[in-house]
Amino acid sequence: MIDATPTQKRLYEKLVWAGRQVIENNQDRINTMGVGWKNFLPAKWEREMGQVFTARTGIVIKQPGRAYRSPMNAPDETERAALVYFVKAARDDNRPRTTTEQWGKQAVYRHMEPIRLLSPCLPCHGKPKGALDLR
Ligand code: HEC
Repeated sequence: MIDATPTQKRLYEKLVWAGRQVIENNQDRINTMGVGWKNFLPAKWEREMGQVFTARTGIVIKQPGRAYRSPMNAPDETERAALVYFVKAARDDNRPRTTTEQWGKQAVYRHMEPIRLLSPCLPCHGKPKGALDLR
């Protein structure tokens, strides 16, 4: 944050606020005793946080995947191309891909970074290929 511009600082504060808001909205579910799978995990938090952030800023946050678990994470054409690029790139090449597109009358700046799977992710995102998520 040392080098952040005032605009970046404002957006960051809204992002943190949105993240807290989502935890607050789900606090009762998180606090329920004696339930193992609470249907609340980081990907769900991120999606809901993105929706709150979008409502405050107009900036859309998405987490698309090629073998997506939630249909809400289906990639569009630009995202699919970036995902294919990241799969082919070296595992430590996490440089963002950016592009500007015209959506109707609106010029849209898009910034994409990979979230790479690690071994702790595989119980849910691993084999068998194509298996659906825990529900
Ligand atoms: C407990 C099971 C579980 C673990 C562990 C897990 N995920 Fe997920 N992940 C899910 C589920 C379920 C979804 C779909 C949730 C949604 O968007 O509603 C998901 C969604 C995602 C998505 C969005 C694309 C999609 O598949 O829908 C990404 C990206 C992702 N996870 C990355 C990771 C990474 C990286 C890790 C490890 C650091 C990880 N996940 C660990 C269950 C898990």
